[in-house]
Parts: sequence; structure tokens; C-alpha cells
Amino acid sequence: MSHTVITQEVSKRRTFAIISHPDAGKTTITEKVLLFGKALQKAGTVKGRGSNQHAKSDWMEMEKERGISVTTSVMQFPYNDALVNLLDTPGHEDFSEDTYRTLTAVDSCLMVIDAAKGVEDRTRKLMEVTRLRDTPIVTFMNKLDRDIRDPMEVLDEVETELNIACAPVSWPIGCGKEFKGVYHIHRDETILYQTGQGHTIQEKRIIKGLDNPELDAEIGSELVEQLREELELVIGASHEFDHELFLKGELTPVFFGTALGNFGVDHMLDGLTEWAPTPMPRQTDDREVKADEENFTGFVFKIQANMDPKHRDRIAFMRIVSGKYNQGMKMNHVRLGKQISISDAVTFMAGDRERAQDAYAGDIIGLHNHGTIQIGDTFTQGEKLKFSGIPNFAPELFRRIRLKDPLKQKQLLKGLVQLSEEGAVQVFRPLANNDLIVGAVGVLQFDVVVARLKAEYNVDAIYESVNVQTARWVNCSDEKKLAEFRRKCETNLALDGGDNLTYVAPSRVNLNLSMERYPEVEFHHTREH
Ligand code: G4P
Repeated sequence: MSHTVITQEVSKRRTFAIISHPDAGKTTITEKVLLFGKALQKAGTVKGRGSNQHAKSDWMEMEKERGISVTTSVMQFPYNDALVNLLDTPGHEDFSEDTYRTLTAVDSCLMVIDAAKGVEDRTRKLMEVTRLRDTPIVTFMNKLDRDIRDPMEVLDEVETELNIACAPVSWPIGCGKEFKGVYHIHRDETILYQTGQGHTIQEKRIIKGLDNPELDAEIGSELVEQLREELELVIGASHEFDHELFLKGELTPVFFGTALGNFGVDHMLDGLTEWAPTPMPRQTDDREVKADEENFTGFVFKIQANMDPKHRDRIAFMRIVSGKYNQGMKMNHVRLGKQISISDAVTFMAGDRERAQDAYAGDIIGLHNHGTIQIGDTFTQGEKLKFSGIPNFAPELFRRIRLKDPLKQKQLLKGLVQLSEEGAVQVFRPLANNDLIVGAVGVLQFDVVVARLKAEYNVDAIYESVNVQTARWVNCSDEKKLAEFRRKCETNLALDGGDNLTYVAPSRVNLNLSMERYPEVEFHHTREH
């Protein structure tokens, strides 16, 4: 494999995920993006797709009943000269730690905001996660076909609440029933909106320049005058696009449009493929690995259970960091110190599972996993490396788990530890009693865990409420201080699935007090594997 082929392939890749609050339009924009990527013939099929093509296991049945799709995890498609990998980020009730961890496996993010609502809760949280790596963010202001808030005010909100500078690339002309289109600031042209064209790639109607009489004829002199005034204000008051600041995650280009109307999505994709970084280097414990290195390396960021219920199979999702994957190649599973032959990795071309022929840095491949692969595992062609930056995130919801049959305590613990290694939930064992506390980021995970305990470990378990609101991993370099802390706070301390000391707090106030009281102790919101 020549080095230049790898360099060329890597330079085409753009690997990103979407961050948004539920209902902002993530699914709709995904559909349109796939339409532009020629991966869908007609928009309107993403949501239903999983239901008839993949057999479902019991808990998938459960997820389906709640209207959640779990099958489209990675979608790859060409756009312009780029090859785009879009990683799905579970968003509604299926929101989980996987959502957070997926954000550590991409090189950029698209933030979709409902322009009628502005910055919402979930977006705030997901932005926090992207800040761990200063991931570059492209923004799409959605639902311009509805009555939205003053765009200037929404940009302001993004800047102050999310602490990122906004550089509008397009600017809307009206909204709701009066939505006329957008003016593309960089191209100095107006693209006219046409209703009822959302399911297709539209013939564009473009008018060059702001002083073009055609523009007046098309949208009326009054609106044109208003647009000119607004633009003067906007360009004066906001930031100009700066590629370097974008790459540092300090500035986001902003596009306006409607995903439902498939309008403006192409401008966003043009920007994303032009500006978003090619596969980035990644840090290991020893050195930085660059994407165009010849030798293959990768890490596992997500494990999805049972996509093929006949085999009780699990798929480990691996982000390739460098080099090339060939079918049948041998890889080193560094943690186990074992060489394994991968003959049947899967890729996710537009949602269909296909046998991967080859894949390059930036791509995601799925490895069949029979329990030997954990989140954070590194694979190489021999070099002993361990990628960092694939953390556990502190859970936000907690329940005590209890057996119906007390004799099965051992199976329960084994099941919980294995499920926590897959990243489904986390398990905590308090120092002071024999409880088992399950912590999750999304509420559906609790049901998934009980269903899987039953199906895979033959354990009947139920939940009870527990007085825990938040958790932090703790450590302290001063052993004496740590011992004192352990003694004084024993009732609030637990060990997680990997035996790491964790502070489980009944309230934020309690957590803050302990943090103040023990300044030598570090409280961490994330924990490296
Ligand atoms: P999500 O994945 O972020 O949760 O959002 P999703 O795309 O499912 O969109 C949520 C709702 O918002 C959907 O309506 C969708 O049709 C609508 N929507 C998305 N983009 C736009 C837009 O640009 N303009 C308008 N007016 N609506 C938009 P729904 O009625 O909840 O679902 P559905 O039954 O229509 O699918």
C-alpha cells in the first residue's frame, strides 16, 4: 500500500456527528444529507427504515414501540470531492453515554438549532462534550419556514450560552409564510426558496448580487431594502468566518434554512466538506498518531448489542485512526496482547451493513464481538499503543437494582460489570453497604439492562429508587488526605465496575460542599478507560 494512496484517501474523509435537542430536526436533516449523498432515492425513509430491514430482538422491539430507531449508526456517502462519514447520535429516549462517546470519535460536529426555540438543554450538554476536544462546529439554524425568533438574537444566544463566536455564512430573508430564501454572504448571491420541494434536490433559483434589479422584482423592493440594512448590521456586529478559529472550535459558521423544505442544507454541506478537518491525529499514552501513517490503528468507542439476534451478536464500532483496513488483515488487540484476524468487519454505507472491502483513517468499521472487546480498546499492527480521550461520563440518573431471586447475586454482578464494559450503563457498589446502584445517562438504558440481564444472564432484576443525584470519580495524590476523605465520606463512596473510587452524591449541594471541604481531592466528571 503506497503511502500516497493513504494520504489521498484520508484527505477525502470528513467524519462528523449531529448535535441537537430532540425535535430540532436531526432526523430530517440526516435524510436530506443522505439525499444529497445519493444514498437515498427519496427523502422520508430514514425513520421507517430500521423497522422492516432488520430483525429485532426483544429490547429493540421495546425501543421500536417507543418510536426510536437504533439501527442507523454510521452512514457513509460521497459529496463533492469528499467522502463523508456521518455518525448517528442517539437523541430521544435512546439518549445515552454512547451519544457522548460518539462525539469523541468524530472530527467535527453539525449543530442543528430550531431557530424558533434557540439554544436548548440537550444542545448545551452535547456542546460541553465537544469542548473536551475543541471539536470544530458547523451550525444550521433550522425551521425557517416557521415563524422564528429574531436571527440576530438567536446568534447572540449561541455566542453567550455556548461560548462560541458565530460567523453567519448565509442570512435569511423573512421567515414562516414570508420566507423568501437566503442570501449567501460568501457567494454574494440570493437563493430563492420554493415550497413543496422538500423531498427532492431542487433546481436552484439564484440571483447574483444585492443590487440586482431581478432581486427587487422577485421579492419586492421593500424586503430587499430591509435585507440590505440587516446585512450591514449583521456583518458589522458578528464575526467574519475564520478557518483557523473554526478549526480550534472557537468560531462556528452559521447557515440558515429548513431541513423539511430541503433548503440551505446543501450550503451547509458545501461548507462542511470544504472546511471541516480531515481525520485528525490522536493522542495515545506514548505518542500522537497521524491519520496518514501507513500502519493501521484504531479504537473502539461504542458497542451495540445484538444487531443480529440470531447470533446474540455485538458489534464493536471502531474508529480507524491511521492507515488502512483490508479484509482478512491481522490486528493486535493491545489490551489482551493477542493477534486477531478480522475477516468480516462491516461498514455502514448509507445505513446498510455491507462487508467492508477497505476502509481508511476516518472511517468506522464494525467488528463482531463476542465479549472480548471493551470500550476504549486499541487495535494496531503490532505497536503497543493505547489511545486516550474515550472516557466514561458521569451518569445523571441512578437506581438501585435488586434481584427477584437473591441466589443469583453472582450472575447479576457479572452481567452488570459486562454491560458496563459495553458502555450501556455504569454500576456502583457503595463502600458502606451491599447495594448495587446502576447509573445511566439516558433513561431507556435502565430498561435495556433489565431486558438484557434476563435474556443473556437469566437474571430477573427490578429497580428501586435511590437517593443519588450525581457522581464524580475521585482521586488524591496525598494518601493521608485520601484515607481521611474515605473515612469521613464513606457513606457517599462507591466503587465502579472497574473498581475506581466514586463519590455518589445525594444532591448537587452535597457534592459542592464536599468539593469545598476537601480541596486536595480531585472530582472528575469523566474517567479514562
Ligand atoms: P429530531 O430528529 O431532531 O428529533 O427531529 P426530527 O427531524 O424528527 O424533526 C422533528 C419535527 O420537526 C418533525 O415533525 C419534523 O417534520 C419537523 N421539522 C424538521 N425540520 C423542519 C423544518 O425545517 N420546518 C418545519 N416546519 N418542521 C421541521 P413531527 O410532526 O414531529 O414529525 P413527523 O411526523 O412530521 O415526522
